[in-house]
Amino acid sequence: MRANLARVGPEVVRSEGDFSRVALPNADADVLRDLLLQEEAEVVLEIGLAYSVSALAIAEALISHGKRCAAHLIIDAFQDRFHDAGWKAMHQQGHELRLED
Ligand SMILES: C[S@@+](CC[C@H](N)C(=O)[O-])C[C@H]1O[C@@H](n2cnc3c(N)ncnc32)[C@H](O)[C@@H]1O
Repeated sequence: MRANLARVGPEVVRSEGDFSRVALPNADADVLRDLLLQEEAEVVLEIGLAYSVSALAIAEALISHGKRCAAHLIIDAFQDRFHDAGWKAMHQQGHELRLED
């Protein structure tokens, strides 16, 4: 999913060029994932889902650990402006999601 996002971009964007402007570069997302793995992170608080590049990388790390207590809390005040693209990508990837307003 993340590799595909990096290759073709999201299905919908706010405007042309927006994905490359706001999304974490995929190589940086790899670094983020590897850092979290190295630190054996169990709980991650993320501010800003956007198109979900960083969120998918964080989820990769948490799942790789396989710890049942792992949690990933994402706060995004403006996900609707991204046509919920990040939320949908996380859902498509099969992550168990809970939305709280
Ligand atoms: C640069 S994008 C995040 C990119 C994303 N982390 C990635 O790797 O693709 C910034 C995000 O922060 C969110 N945001 C901006 N202001 C915010 C605020 N005051 N509270 C919560 N989220 C906010 C936006 O909706 C947007 O999703």
